Amino acid sequence: MATRPSNRKRNQWTVELLAIQPVHRILEIGCGPGIALKSCAAKVSEGGVVGIDHSEVMVSQASKRLAGEIKAGRADVRLVGLFDGSLEDGTYDRVYSLNVFQFFLDMEEGFRRVHECLVSGGKVATTYQPRSKNPTRGNALEMAASIEKTMKAVGFVGIERHELLFKPAPVICVIGRKTEA
Ligand SMILES: C[S@@+](CC[C@H](N)C(=O)[O-])C[C@H]1O[C@@H](n2cnc3c(N)ncnc32)[C@H](O)[C@@H]1O
Repeated sequence: MATRPSNRKRNQWTVELLAIQPVHRILEIGCGPGIALKSCAAKVSEGGVVGIDHSEVMVSQASKRLAGEIKAGRADVRLVGLFDGSLEDGTYDRVYSLNVFQFFLDMEEGFRRVHECLVSGGKVATTYQPRSKNPTRGNALEMAASIEKTMKAVGFVGIERHELLFKPAPVICVIGRKTEA
């Protein structure tokens, strides 16, 4: 997963869409081997990044990849799941994920949890690329519509949809904002 150029491209695209400022506190859900998290860490000289994943193997890989940033106190990689109830409320300026929300049995509960973790005015970004057999643009757009609907249902505003042309099917990223208090 870490070495595939396609995965690196998807990760980098998502990080650029986050419009990260040096002071931002960033949370990645399902950080896997930590490709995007490492790029984010390089952008937050005064803030920090936290990556969570419920796979021990992935947490180990991400921890190795970000060893320098962890030592410097700018990164933390945790073996926890989004639904474990261990994340801090009202803390993060950006919360993002790549190819994770499609695995949730209850996507709405996932976005509710993300909403709680964000500061007022903070943003969520959810990236997805269909991985079914012979995936189509239609599959990607269907998921985008479902993500948008769910984000709106939990209170996100200013929903934006981005699309990256990709083979065999495009990558979509949906961004939403938590309203100012
Ligand atoms: C397809 S991988 C994507 C990894 C990484 N985001 C990337 O694109 O390189 C999905 C990751 O999400 C993690 N994951 C799935 N459900 C999770 C949950 N509820 N909480 C935390 N991590 C989760 C998995 O362990 C896995 O590492």
